[in-house]
Amino acid sequence: KPRIFSGIQPSGGLTLGNYLGALKRFVEKQDEGIETIYCLVDLHAITVWQDPERLRQQTREGAAAFIAAGIDPKRSILFNQSQVTAHAELGWIFNCIARMGWMSRMTQFKDKAGKNSENVSLGLFAYPSLMAADILAYHATMVPVGDDQKQHLELCRDIAIKFNNDYKVDFFPVVEPLIEGAATRVMSLRDGTKKMSKSDPSDQSRINLTDDADMIAQKIRKAKTDPEPLPETLEGLKDRPEAKNLVNIYAALAGMTPEAVVAEYAGAQFGTFKPKLAELSVAKLSPITTEMNRLMKDPAEIDRILGQGAERADAIAQPILAQVKDIVGMIRSR
Ligand code: TYM
Repeated sequence: KPRIFSGIQPSGGLTLGNYLGALKRFVEKQDEGIETIYCLVDLHAITVWQDPERLRQQTREGAAAFIAAGIDPKRSILFNQSQVTAHAELGWIFNCIARMGWMSRMTQFKDKAGKNSENVSLGLFAYPSLMAADILAYHATMVPVGDDQKQHLELCRDIAIKFNNDYKVDFFPVVEPLIEGAATRVMSLRDGTKKMSKSDPSDQSRINLTDDADMIAQKIRKAKTDPEPLPETLEGLKDRPEAKNLVNIYAALAGMTPEAVVAEYAGAQFGTFKPKLAELSVAKLSPITTEMNRLMKDPAEIDRILGQGAERADAIAQPILAQVKDIVGMIRSR
């Protein structure tokens, strides 16, 4: 039976990139009736320093965003990672399976560590091995993510394969990344060659799920574009990263293909297209923001939901972890 796992770091407010590349698709998968497990990965978040009170706040805000976007905590399992100890335990075992060389090739690590890799946490280096544990602790086989997680998921496959080979078992399944739709890589509104990111120093570069309608409209109005009108076909967007990004965002929000968007707006100036995009963005995002704000008024209720989710997650992960320990040769006598 197929099972989906995915996670989002509570390391900042969620962006339109997280929404279109991940959250919106998490809801679609849930609504297709597949078993879905979604996690706020707080253990991953602390690979870079997080203020404790903010981490708590951002974890709750992340949970509120999931629910406001349409995740039903009865149908999906929704929890924060640190409440299920199997993640950290299996993560350690995977640290002993994964090779230093594999980790050194991770582009996200190289980007985040920059030139000063001597001074980043060991956890940041081991990050993808914990991510593999997140998925494989549930024997999940399908993982909806944005394009930037592709390499991490390839590493997850490598870990599963090496574990199976080393212990001569057929235990961990092969994981399939689900990277689908028009917005697998939403770009910065200021620079069409950079990913939209919660860690970009410029708030103008992104739309946050907490932005109000005026802010969203203002950011789209000011988004960088070129002076040309929209082309007749997608081909015409090839060397126009900013224009292409806005078309992709429109397509993902409207549930259209980029081809259909270009066909509808062929020849239109950005002076026409941007207000339409702003209107659509507000229409799609404002109800989520409003619901998030409502949910955030009752933090105890959010914590209760995360706790119940964690119990259900634990019930799936513990037996799998017990089997792993048996395979590896660890005594379990209590
Ligand atoms: P994170 O928290 O950086 O991002 C969460 C999800 O949002 C997607 N995403 C984007 N999609 C499109 N355009 C963008 N600009 C954009 N920015 C972010 C990400 O691809 C991701 O799907 N390592 C993960 C969290 C994680 C995880 C896991 C994911 C931990 N364990 C297990 C899947 C399975 C991360 O840092 O995501």
